[in-house]
Parts: sequence; structure tokens; C-alpha cells
Amino acid sequence: TRPVVISCDPGVDDAVALALAFASPELDVLAVAATAGNVSVETSSANAAALLDLFGAPAELAVHSGASGPLRGERVPDEPVHGAGGLGGVRLPPSSRRIEHDAVEHLARTILGRPGEVTLVALGPLTDVARLFAEYPRTVAALDRLVIMGGAVFAQGNVTLAAEFNFFADPEAAAAVLRAARPVELVPLDVTREAVIDRAAATALAELPSATGTIGRMLVGMCDAMAARGRPDVAVMHDALAIAAVFDPGLIEWADAAATVELDGTLTRGAVVADVRGVSGRAANVRYGAAVASGRFTQLLVERVTALRRP
Ligand code: BDR
Ligand code: CA
Repeated sequence: TRPVVISCDPGVDDAVALALAFASPELDVLAVAATAGNVSVETSSANAAALLDLFGAPAELAVHSGASGPLRGERVPDEPVHGAGGLGGVRLPPSSRRIEHDAVEHLARTILGRPGEVTLVALGPLTDVARLFAEYPRTVAALDRLVIMGGAVFAQGNVTLAAEFNFFADPEAAAAVLRAARPVELVPLDVTREAVIDRAAATALAELPSATGTIGRMLVGMCDAMAARGRPDVAVMHDALAIAAVFDPGLIEWADAAATVELDGTLTRGAVVADVRGVSGRAANVRYGAAVASGRFTQLLVERVTALRRP
């Protein structure tokens, strides 16, 4: 099994990503950190704690709460497709799991405790990861892999025409993380947009008992929110695709590029600027998802979520 630490901002697709991580025997989740993003850091931390209960995570696995906003400027508003409370309108029983306010320190401890072994998966704004690399520079090389859901390489953005939510929410952090001297496996909007659960599949899951049904109700909530905004009637599983990419990288077709993040553009702040044809002469720093076997991904996700057997 592959040891992973996860930084997230649940968020419906973050919730499903956590479900997939805990339902997958290929992964050993060593730590869960929560950041501001889709919702405030208080809400994302409380949601993460309640989700760990739902998935039967060991009681001693705390949630490590991190950034309340970006490195610079104001926090972006709550992302409405995740519904009130961030979990598609589903209210989970309050958790008594420990919430520690030490995301960066705990990530550092965990990564440095097993040098060369740990995969860090970032599913939210990159504020805590940027701080981790700045404050504990040895963690950069100590990671086995760094997998990030974020950015749009060719695709249009989802917050602005140019920028994807996680990168837009903290462009300085995203830029710093891409500048760090290590390869990044980037799972961008280009592929995550195709990682969808349609309403029929969401409804079928919602009718099942236990944690599976609860996840299904979150998915239906996201379909409702999408449809209400005139968007396709599906739940988009951005973050779950990034988790799947950790243990089944063959789901994605990868390509290399030298990539940076625009910080100043009035229309393009937070956008990825990628040299995909090698014209700049700069060495590639990202391996990005260029295509996805979306049918196989959805099947894998539904199978694993269906196998969750918890109250
Ligand atoms: C990303 O933004 C959030 O709304 C999702 O949870 C995902 O991490 C997609 O742009
Ligand atoms: Ca997220």
C-alpha cells in the first residue's frame, strides 16, 4: 500500500475523494489536512472530521486544520455548486474527532518521518502546501510524489474564463508550488471535467444504505446545484479523479510541460501558462493529464463507493 497525506476542502468532490481513498486498499491514508476553499476552514475541517467518521477511519486519525485564506488577498467566496454546508446539502452528525490547528507542521512531520515514501495529494487551494515547502524545505525532496488537482491547461477555467478554482483561490501559492524543485503530477480541469457521475447513477447510490447512500445524496445535491445553474445535470468528480490517479495512473494519458501561474493579469490571474510544445527551452516541471478514460474511472468510483459499508 502507498502512504498518502491529503490536503482538502470538502466540498462534495473532496468528500467523494476521501471516500475513494478510504475504500481503496492500495492507499494508506496517514494524514488529512483541511484548508479554506470551497467553504471556510472551520467548515472544511468539521466536514472532514464528520466524513472520517462516516468512512470508519481510525478514531486516532485527527483532522489537521490549516489556512483560513490565501497567502495574499481575500478568500474567494464559498463555491455554490457544493451547496449549503459544502456537502450537497447533506448534514452529517457532528464529530467528536480531534481537530488540530497544525496542518503545515503535521504534514511536515508525517512526510519527514518516512522520507521518500509519502505521496501528497492536494485537492484544494495550495496555501498549506506552499507554506510547507517554504517552512520545511526538506519536504520537497522527501516526498515520493506530489499529485495536485488544479489548473486548466488548454481548457477554459471554471471560476473565470482563464482560471480553475483551486489555482484562482491562491495563485501565489500555486505558482510557488509549481516553482518548487520537484515534478508535479497535475490533474487539471481538462480531464476532471470529464470525470462525472450522472443523476441516474447518483440517485441509484442514494438509495443504498450506509455511507454509500450518504455519498449518493451528496452527489444528487451537486447535480441539483449544477442543474439550477443551467449547467450539465451531473456531479463533477475533480478531486476523486486525482485520488484515483495516485493508484491507477493509467486512467489518465499524461504529457509533460514547463508550467507557471499568471499572477498579474486582470483577466487571467490564476491561469496556468504551459509550454506544451517545448518552445521555451525550459525543463518540464509538470506531468499533466491530457486525456482520461472517463468510463473506466466512473465505473471504478461507483464500485468502490458501493463497497463502503459503514453506518
Ligand atoms: C476544484 O474546485 C473545487 O470546487 C473542487 O472541490 C475541486 O477541488 C475544481 O476546480
Ligand atoms: Ca477540492
